[in-house]
Amino acid sequence: MKLSRRETLFALAGLGLAGKAQPGFAAPASLGAIAAEQGLLFGTSIASDTLADPAQAALYRREARIFTVDYAMKFGFLRPTADSFQPGEADAILAFARASAIPVRGHTLAWNESRPDWLMALSTAEMRAALDRHIDETVGYFAGQLHSWDVVNEPFWPGHRLPGHFRDGPWLDAFGEDYVTRAFKRTAAADPAARLVLNEAMTEAWTEDGALIRKSLLGLVDRLQHDGARLDAVGLQGHLLPQKPHDDAAFADFVAELATRKIDIYITELDVDDTVFPDDIGARDAAVAEHYRQFLTAVLAVPAVKMVITWQLADSASWYDHAAREADPDATRLPRPLPFDAHFAPKPAHGAMSAAFTARRPA
Ligand code: G3I
Repeated sequence: MKLSRRETLFALAGLGLAGKAQPGFAAPASLGAIAAEQGLLFGTSIASDTLADPAQAALYRREARIFTVDYAMKFGFLRPTADSFQPGEADAILAFARASAIPVRGHTLAWNESRPDWLMALSTAEMRAALDRHIDETVGYFAGQLHSWDVVNEPFWPGHRLPGHFRDGPWLDAFGEDYVTRAFKRTAAADPAARLVLNEAMTEAWTEDGALIRKSLLGLVDRLQHDGARLDAVGLQGHLLPQKPHDDAAFADFVAELATRKIDIYITELDVDDTVFPDDIGARDAAVAEHYRQFLTAVLAVPAVKMVITWQLADSASWYDHAAREADPDATRLPRPLPFDAHFAPKPAHGAMSAAFTARRPA
């Protein structure tokens, strides 16, 4: 297979070779460098699998200017049993990031989906103690090492039919709706240096659930600020679903309204579900790229948007890929949601993201 000049460049760059005495080759600008020219921070989520693959590690180190820890800092992973705490994978990711001078975001302290069985077996009093201890000990352990924490992830889910559209789970069971303020205040006390982020999904969907989540999120931001909790940014995940109704301009208006609360906005888990696009890879990649371009062009017009993080960088590392292989180990059509393919070559989405970053006027 003959590689184009561009593909050759990226292949060399992915192996950390580009720009190293390659006649006629200059390493192509990374997404991180292009974004930085517009005062924007670009990055990716990262799991320990990346560290085990030198080519993938080189790609992530080259392209990202910030990492979010994908899995290794979640409650269930850190504390598989009531009296264990296993930060080893997170420590390895932090060491890799430190060696690459790339800041790291912690993800996530309070998520009503990350619920180990031992936690769910506790009494309410025991659960309260365990959750308080989790924040005090975990934030204390990583204190001074993190750019920011996703303190609370996905507080809302209308599908659980609870008052205020809150998502059901141990944190809500233990402390009621006040778990959010409690988590933010305890985190601030345990690591005054980390920026504190409230992270939410589905706000991009122009559906009844999306509207309820957007309204509830605005109310929760106001409640946190009224309670005197420090909230530095709201994270909007950005798992884009072309199969659902969406309105990029109206979403940008929502982002601008959030920003009137004098907080930064991070796009924290960006990817594009390609389920409804054609099987043909060229057509599918073009459709994914166009979806990225439209969304980013709209949302980057809001000056408060300071960060764009994709949920992994290469298709083979995507949660969509893992889910597809789990559903059918012999699947022939694999998801292609990200800017780099399984061989770490750039896709049309890479160009679309670069163009959207470049078109942004610095705030
Ligand atoms: O690491 C173990 C491996 O040792 C084991 O063999 C394997 C068997 O199941 O599991 C592996 O752990 C999996 C882990 O991902 C690492 O791949 C867990 O089972 C699996 O539940 C976990 O899924 C993660 C999911 O959150 C739940 O934590 C996904 O990777 C991760 O991408 C996804 O990310 C979430 C964000 O945190 C919140 N927003 C939505 C986003 C997508 O669901």
